[in-house]
Amino acid sequence: MTQHGGKLDSPPSSWPSAQQNPGFAGDTGEFPALTADDVRGITYVGTRPEHGGHPSVAGTMPYQVPPKQPEGPIFTGEYEERLQKVLTRYPDRQAALLPALHLAQELRGHLSPESMDEVAARLQLAPAYVRGVASFYTMYNLGPVGKYLVQVCTNISCNLCGGDAVLEAFLEHTGTEMGEISADGRFTVIEAECLGACGFPTAVQINERFYENIRPEEVPAVLEALK
Ligand code: FES
Repeated sequence: MTQHGGKLDSPPSSWPSAQQNPGFAGDTGEFPALTADDVRGITYVGTRPEHGGHPSVAGTMPYQVPPKQPEGPIFTGEYEERLQKVLTRYPDRQAALLPALHLAQELRGHLSPESMDEVAARLQLAPAYVRGVASFYTMYNLGPVGKYLVQVCTNISCNLCGGDAVLEAFLEHTGTEMGEISADGRFTVIEAECLGACGFPTAVQINERFYENIRPEEVPAVLEALK
């Protein structure tokens, strides 16, 4: 194994391949058509290995989600099939609420009060309970966001390593204020609390994918890669 500019050109044999990685979404059967590159992305920024083996959760969820359908029916067709699979994994409907909300958000882009009520009706739960759960977790968007939701960690580790400057760079290069949708509809940039990648500051999450060791000067390349 050799290393060039901080990137490994071949993984140690002890590392799992993307296909063997238990966190690789293609292995769950949910997204059989996605390749490892679809899931993991092909452009890594920072100094972590290109071939996986990094210790965080990067790339464990599909990165290229379908286009948002703000008015789309939540629990029909593919989404109803996926809900049925989710329901088999939990002891009761209440326990399946979090993934059911994720399905609704994946399709519609955010969870409006009407969407939460539809989830409540589908799972036969009290609407107030569903709204309480959805509004508790910051990973649920309660209002519309851009195609790419950029969450920049400014918590302690990332803050000490320049997280605020990374946040400013994303705002500048997307031409947005915090939380607003860019004029082209592509980006919303927000500040996030600890993303659980404190060893790789500054950590950034864009939709379901992590970027680590981000520096302000790398932000244009990150945004360019999303085009
Ligand atoms: S402080 Fe940034 S990921 Fe934990």
